[in-house]
Amino acid sequence: MGHSRIVILTGAGVSAESGVPTFRGPDGLWEGHRVEDVATPEAFARDPRLVQTFYDLRRAALAKVEPNPAHLALARLDADWPGDLLLVTQNVDDLHERAGSRRLIHMHGRLKSAWCTACDTRHGWEGALLDWPPCPACGAVGRMRPDIVWFGEMPYDMARIERAVMACDLFVSIGTSGNVYPAAGFVDLAGRAGARTLELNLDPSMASHRFDESRLGPAGVLVPELVAQLLDP
Ligand code: APR
Repeated sequence: MGHSRIVILTGAGVSAESGVPTFRGPDGLWEGHRVEDVATPEAFARDPRLVQTFYDLRRAALAKVEPNPAHLALARLDADWPGDLLLVTQNVDDLHERAGSRRLIHMHGRLKSAWCTACDTRHGWEGALLDWPPCPACGAVGRMRPDIVWFGEMPYDMARIERAVMACDLFVSIGTSGNVYPAAGFVDLAGRAGARTLELNLDPSMASHRFDESRLGPAGVLVPELVAQLLDP
């Protein structure tokens, strides 16, 4: 395809075939909860036990899932692509890194990280937070929260992401409904800067009409096909 700089944005759809539930199911609920009840700073202030339990369960559930062919193909692209490449994921699971992707940004945080709001340090985290473990750095108790970007909070590494999106030749969005900004706006930023824009999604998304091309189907099929096209044109 003659591209050299690639930015790829992934959403919950890339992990769906691994058995990680997407956010916006047919019932509009996220594992039985309204998003406002578990994914906002206000929810955490109001009911920290509910929010910690919710994320503790999701963190524990990562032990039962494996990367699928879409994650593996993206890791192969990362390893073999000679040009610039950045994988930006909205997902908080660890399936991209377990598949082997290295040029990766978790713009909405990671389940396997805990953030001490007393000393502002982040710690790799495997266990639970509901029992309010002390911060390994400063010892404060009751100040460790999930290192997840909630609604109303600023996603991570935005300056670096926007630079890459504006400089890329090919922007690919995979398995995201295009509901949540700023990620949903990256396609416009890339398009205005002259990149070709491509969407891979199971269903037409909110943003489909803003892409040069949309391919519909499961990520586990479409992503390996795309990676083969890019690496062996
Ligand atoms: N292959 C490809 N796409 C799929 C698959 C699949 N197997 N299964 C589902 N999809 C698509 C759905 O059609 C939907 O468009 O993935 C998309 C998932 O959308 P959401 O559940 O809204 O997830 P996402 O877009 O990642 O959410 C963005 O919202 O709740 C916040 O911060 C959270 O990062 C999250 C953000």
